[in-house]
Amino acid sequence: MVTDASPKPPEPETPTAYFGYRRVAASEKGRLVHRHFDTVAGKYDLMNTLLSFGMHHLWKWTAVRMLKLKPGDRVIDVCGGTADLAIRAAQAVGETGRVTVYDINWAMMAAGWPKVVNSSLAPRIDYIQGDAEHLSCPDASFDAAMVGFGIRNLTRPEAGFREIFRVLKPGGAMMCLEFSKPKTAWFRRLYDFYSFYVMPAVGKIMVGSWDAYTYLPESIRMFSQPEELSASLETIGFTRVRYRRLTNGIAVIYLGVKP
Ligand SMILES: C[S@@+](CC[C@H](N)C(=O)[O-])C[C@H]1O[C@@H](n2cnc3c(N)ncnc32)[C@H](O)[C@@H]1O
Repeated sequence: MVTDASPKPPEPETPTAYFGYRRVAASEKGRLVHRHFDTVAGKYDLMNTLLSFGMHHLWKWTAVRMLKLKPGDRVIDVCGGTADLAIRAAQAVGETGRVTVYDINWAMMAAGWPKVVNSSLAPRIDYIQGDAEHLSCPDASFDAAMVGFGIRNLTRPEAGFREIFRVLKPGGAMMCLEFSKPKTAWFRRLYDFYSFYVMPAVGKIMVGSWDAYTYLPESIRMFSQPEELSASLETIGFTRVRYRRLTNGIAVIYLGVKP
């Protein structure tokens, strides 16, 4: 009998990603994220307002203002969801500008659609349904790009940022608005209690699911901190990277420019 004594090649490792605190196969994360947003889409805007005590409006207003959009700009709102950022951007770019809401989830875009059609801004806003990790847009086609509370949900956030970098024109600006952890210890403890007990309870009452609003705080705790995220933006090629903490660091605005 002949035995093969040569060492076996190692089994290829299955890529994994975090869905909240759960480590899942990378291929599974997209499906779970999709299901999560299907569950919350109908009440997404209302829940944002309730859970942030209305502060998300101010965060979004500040973030779009910091992008310094000009009349005529073409803007992409990656993971644009219910179009809150897109609507603010559409006001800034004027009649000659255009804003593209790019999101993978039809239910999320549909939930925001009445806000767009019931405003005079509808002709300035278009929609693409697709994956932010593979934007179906040509290179260098936008003057500015935004991603609000979306990048954390991607299986490979860095791939999303690389795509944003690719579709920006040289000189184009990127703005990312994302959750983070509060800076001050006592506030962090309060925020933890609020996040892990109050948020899921409100989720249970409003969308009928406790779990829907455990994913949110868990995914925030698992996501990169501002220093780390800024460093990875620089590695991708963005220059003039800076960030600004809002409300003790609950939310952070990141800015960068494609050279
Ligand atoms: C928390 S919501 C943010 C919506 C909106 N930008 C806002 O600030 O209110 C995250 C959005 O990211 C979208 N999303 C998640 N994974 C995505 C992917 N791979 N490609 C595109 N969009 C994605 C979800 O469908 C959802 O609409």
